Amino acid sequence: MIKATITGVEASLPEYILTNEELSRMVDTTDEWIMTRIGIRERRIIEEGKGASSVGAQAVEKLLKKTGTKPEEVDFVLCATVTPDHQFPATANIIMDKCGIRNGFGFDLNAGCSGFLYGLVTAARFVESGHYKKVILVGAEKMSSIVDYTDRATCCIFGDGAGAVLIEPTTENFGVMDSILLSDGVGRVHLHQKAGGSVSPASHDTIDNREHFIYQEGQAVFKWAVSQMADTSLELMRRNNLSADDIAYLVPHQANLRIIDAVGKRMDFPPEKVMVNIEKYGNTTAATLPLCLWEWESKLKKGDNLLLTTFGAGFTWGAAYLKWGYDPDVNYEL
Ligand code: UT7
Repeated sequence: MIKATITGVEASLPEYILTNEELSRMVDTTDEWIMTRIGIRERRIIEEGKGASSVGAQAVEKLLKKTGTKPEEVDFVLCATVTPDHQFPATANIIMDKCGIRNGFGFDLNAGCSGFLYGLVTAARFVESGHYKKVILVGAEKMSSIVDYTDRATCCIFGDGAGAVLIEPTTENFGVMDSILLSDGVGRVHLHQKAGGSVSPASHDTIDNREHFIYQEGQAVFKWAVSQMADTSLELMRRNNLSADDIAYLVPHQANLRIIDAVGKRMDFPPEKVMVNIEKYGNTTAATLPLCLWEWESKLKKGDNLLLTTFGAGFTWGAAYLKWGYDPDVNYEL
């Protein structure tokens, strides 16, 4: 049986660092409030005139180089994003062009902050079919393009960046082992962008009313996020006979340190087994999970069990059980 496994991970972060100190000069907030309520110290911001594909393409280029993959070998590029360069064409196609990938196909996937998780399961199905050998999944976001920097309730949360993984077939028992993906559109009222889509295209009014930015009812999202991420992860562990002891790391979406802590506690995970880097990058939406995998890559060993879990706009949520497929000293040229 063919399984789909991650064989490399890379990332790209814009250089500009937006600190809490700078934010506190833009809106009525403090480093102390942001650190205690959200756990973010700084986030990266893509310069004006560039889109999500700038970091997305950079992450993919680095991934091709690191894994010794030629652009012409890539079968499929899936880009998870809520901040595409344009409404159309897909940002995946722009990234492919920038990276010289011309023998494959690509499209975008919008599942809010669950984009990378949904994408991982989607990409895995293509690989498991036996028809696709080299699939790239990239989570790329320019959240700063839809953040209202006069709204203190949302502007501290989000950051820009991208992470990409190469997914390949294996006949060994590694890779995406199991997953649960769920959505409930009833939650859309709590987290959305009011204008810019077909129901309310851009107009003078939508701009005057600041409707092209993220709208979030934080507390409602917070409650759903904690219970759904924990419950879904526990269900996935139960049906795979896994306890926290069997899992090397929990890899949660990075939306709020208090959400991550609450999920970890509900699941009986000691803090050292929970990947957390929100302090440095904020919530990068579809890029949070690959940014975690990228930072922890040197610590991961072949056979390590990982549990990925997310929650985001839609609402969308889910969990995936991954058996990591390579050791840190892997020679990518082989
Ligand atoms: O990734 C997609 C999923 N998104 C999430 O998971 C986000 C989930 N929600 C959250 O992380 C939190 O709800 C927030 C970080 C968005 C907000 O934190 P909170 O602890 O739920 O704050 P709150 O909205 O209940 O607001 C509490 C107080 C309010 O003041 P009053 O009305 O009590 O006087 C806010 O105006 O905190 C105030 N406040 C701030 N104060 C200083 C809100 N933002 C700020 C701020 N600085 N930046």
